[in-house]
Amino acid sequence: MNRFHRLEDYFVDPHGNNLEQAKKFLQSVLFMALDHAGSASTRPPTPKQDNRQELGDLFPVRGRSASDIESALSDLIQNSANPASPGWLGHMNSMSSIASIAGDIVAASIDNNMLSYEMAPVLTELELAYAKQFARSFGLSSDAGGFLVGGGTIANIQALMLAREDARRRTVGLSAQRMVVLASELAHVSIAKAVKVLGLGENGLISLPTDKSGRLCGATVLTALQQLEDENVQPICLVATAGTTSIGSIDPISEIASIARKRGIWLHVDGAYGAAAHFSKAHEGKLAGIELADSITFNPHKWFFVARNCAFLLLNNFGRLEDIFRIPLPYVRAGKTSNIGEYSIHGTQHADVIKLFVTLQMMGQEGIEALIDYGFERARRVRNVVRSIPILELLPNEDLNFVLFKFRLLTENQNTAILEKASLMLGLEDNIHMTLQKFKGETWGRLIPMSPFVKDAVLDRAIRKIQRVVS
Ligand SMILES: Cc1ncc(COP(=O)(O)O)c(C=O)c1O
Repeated sequence: MNRFHRLEDYFVDPHGNNLEQAKKFLQSVLFMALDHAGSASTRPPTPKQDNRQELGDLFPVRGRSASDIESALSDLIQNSANPASPGWLGHMNSMSSIASIAGDIVAASIDNNMLSYEMAPVLTELELAYAKQFARSFGLSSDAGGFLVGGGTIANIQALMLAREDARRRTVGLSAQRMVVLASELAHVSIAKAVKVLGLGENGLISLPTDKSGRLCGATVLTALQQLEDENVQPICLVATAGTTSIGSIDPISEIASIARKRGIWLHVDGAYGAAAHFSKAHEGKLAGIELADSITFNPHKWFFVARNCAFLLLNNFGRLEDIFRIPLPYVRAGKTSNIGEYSIHGTQHADVIKLFVTLQMMGQEGIEALIDYGFERARRVRNVVRSIPILELLPNEDLNFVLFKFRLLTENQNTAILEKASLMLGLEDNIHMTLQKFKGETWGRLIPMSPFVKDAVLDRAIRKIQRVVS
């Protein structure tokens, strides 16, 4: 099928009439994509801008042939970011598993709509069952549950919306001047977005300072709460971040949870990235207290290596969501289980649960744990090398697999200039992506080893180059 002539050719004919042609096209595209994936180490982590192809005719009058489409797709891949590169070290943005690729193919081919049970019966059951299982494994109550949303941002927005409504209903008649959310200065921007979406106003987010390791302190939270009480301002949510986006720090969840409990404030744990550490026996202790959360954000599309998107909103009391938010869908039939679209901010939703399902079936708990432990071990190795280099200073936080360093004895401007140069040279000469991160007014080089292809040679090359740039 080199050109798609008839309307029926655009689809896999349900009578099987074009099955061989459809398979040929899809197999050829799949093999092309896999050839790119299998040679990702030869391409830079981020594409070089000057090599970029023209985007071409975006909506041609006449449909293109299969071979033209394939070659256009190949150009797109060539010019795309390359998280499968072993030198992709600058972000906590994982490469996708083979299982996820399989899951995405199946999701597109059956194209069920997670909006409702009727449109996605077994997948709705699967998603709700996974949410319950993850909620229980974090230690939430037997009434806990949740669902997948389009990302950690949406999960945070919906969690804070529930916190606000919960606070409003529990304090009817008590007239606070305004409502606020408290989070650390390192909380993800989606918390600030949530505050805007909720209309809490310019001062709706209280950004609390962190200690030198980037963690919130209970005493800081208590002082802020006292001040709010004096001003008759109502705190509606305490956000503890388990794995800050900038440096990977984990707030002391137990301590914050006990403050939240005593004061009757909703506790949201944003574990978009770091909640995955719960699945490593060696590191789960860092998340102690997560079982006391009212809501948790957890993104398997980060450290579980599930292809984007795959993000859970988990709630300790799923029934509260029913009271606060559920809106029946007048255009779908009631099913055996809830319709996820009645509870979620989303309407129509992609069946991300299939990628999760195949990934967990393939890797099992042991595989996931080994991957997470590998990231921790890689980070430990880089830190040891950095420690052995007198001109480099390590940021004092080892909560997750983030390594941040800067140059000692230089002005901030000199330090930033050298880190920028190192980052540029690593990209150009070594296919290694290192990001720069501001923390407490200083610039740090940041490496986040994740994939099993981050071997010693890549890490050693990165550090050698950084050393050479300064000498
Ligand atoms: C701590 C944290 N929360 C939330 C998010 C937002 O997740 P997403 O990009 O899936 O919307 C991120 C993203 O990096 C994050 O690091």
